[in-house]
Amino acid sequence: MADKDKLIIFDTTLRDGEQSPGASMTRDEKVRIAKALEKMRVDVIEAGFPIASPGDFEAVQAVARSIKDSTVCGLSRALDKDIDRAGEALKDANSARIHTFIATSPIHMQAKLRMEPDQVLEQAVRAVKRARQHTDNVEFSAEDAGRSELDFLCRVIEAVIDAGATTINIPDTVGYNIPQQFGELIGNLMSRVPNADKAVFSVHCHNDLGLAVSNSLAAVLNGARQVECTINGLGERAGNASLEEIVMAVRTRQDVFSCDTDLDTTQIVPCSRLVSGITGFPVQPNKAIVGANAFAHESGIHQDGVLKSRETYEIMRAEDVGWSANRIVLGKHSGRNAFRTRCQEIGIEFETEEELNLAFSRFKDLADKKHDIFDEDLQALVSETSTAVEDECYKLLALRVCSETGETPVAGITLSVDGEEKAGECAGSGPVDAAFRAIEEIVSSGTQLQLYSVNNITSGTDAQGEVTVRLEKAGRIVNGLGADTDIVIASAKAYLNALNKLVDQTLRAHPQRDGV
Ligand code: KIV
Ligand code: ZN
Repeated sequence: MADKDKLIIFDTTLRDGEQSPGASMTRDEKVRIAKALEKMRVDVIEAGFPIASPGDFEAVQAVARSIKDSTVCGLSRALDKDIDRAGEALKDANSARIHTFIATSPIHMQAKLRMEPDQVLEQAVRAVKRARQHTDNVEFSAEDAGRSELDFLCRVIEAVIDAGATTINIPDTVGYNIPQQFGELIGNLMSRVPNADKAVFSVHCHNDLGLAVSNSLAAVLNGARQVECTINGLGERAGNASLEEIVMAVRTRQDVFSCDTDLDTTQIVPCSRLVSGITGFPVQPNKAIVGANAFAHESGIHQDGVLKSRETYEIMRAEDVGWSANRIVLGKHSGRNAFRTRCQEIGIEFETEEELNLAFSRFKDLADKKHDIFDEDLQALVSETSTAVEDECYKLLALRVCSETGETPVAGITLSVDGEEKAGECAGSGPVDAAFRAIEEIVSSGTQLQLYSVNNITSGTDAQGEVTVRLEKAGRIVNGLGADTDIVIASAKAYLNALNKLVDQTLRAHPQRDGV
């Protein structure tokens, strides 16, 4: 990258990504994702919106305390109380950034803020100065910049740079822009704002018209040197620009871009899986870079071409983005050391011996049922272990399901509820429905099921099914995970994992509608 500029990658999976309806993460899950992002060498991790709730504050604080190599960022409106709260959450970070924003488009200023443009400008300047009292790394965003008036935007940007903003972010908040127009906007701002050279220009594009990545790349071609993005393109409504697509477009087309990122792209697929598992948002098979079919060649002509010379139909190497062939890595006779070593090789670290022991005992249970254990199985097993709640209230002791052609399925379940054994039996429209009803007969949780999804972790009929269950109760939303070769058992585990998260009030469960 000697003669190339650096393109800063600002990941907002933990903040804007979490604003996807249902994509809730506990504090520990956020820390896990943050560590995976740090390992991938993401430059800036936006960990949350500290003023939004005590849970958000704690999550940002926990990420700030765990991350050493990436800058950790907290979002705040342009208000003293928000900024001070963000400063407080970030105070233990090795490198901290405060990101403050206010809207600059006519429609947002009139209809939402009910403020005159001059008042907005004054508040923006005040906010940046306030943020500078906490850190010298301050980002200012002109919300809805994509629909703002150019002259006004230039005035605001010049003033906030004078006030100490070091990054200027230009969001296309509603995903309204078109690549050429958005690229020109960035070029115009950078040439018209007199002190533009004193800040890094950044973009933050939403995907309402499916153009978030294209708009971001157009901006990079016109001088932007930070891109805000999320893993798998998670985010509000249609999502944000996808990190993996931006990074690989820039890396693959070095003939076009005069910049590159520092990212270790081999971490992309593991990171994508982690985020998908935790949030319960599956990755579509034909999704660029991280979809299951992204490197699959089905047609004979393509297969023939790739066999003769891989470049005929492949512009990237699957292994460069972290795809590994389904390798048989371990089995029933593998010991604790082999298990630990393979986990380390694929980026899974255990923080304590206890965590390792728990994961190893789950591995042994799995190896009893499944002959060949693949890397993907290990990843699922560790996801399940790390999402488990300490001192679980509900534990699955036994599950029996009877399902027969022409008969109504019935499930009988035995749970340990706070150490006491309880049993229930229920019929349902299918075995999973019957199992969930049987659980409810025992616990009467009063929750609403928002999502139920099953993914096979590897191929083959002996593959494990990974189930996500999303439950909602009084505005709190949690995702439960369960994996097993028997998908009814995996489903019951996921349901109980979600219930345990709801019961544990110390865990941050995302209050989707309680935002500030
Ligand atoms: O989309 C947006 O405008 C945002 C800002 C807070 C940067 O998310
Ligand atoms: Zn956004």
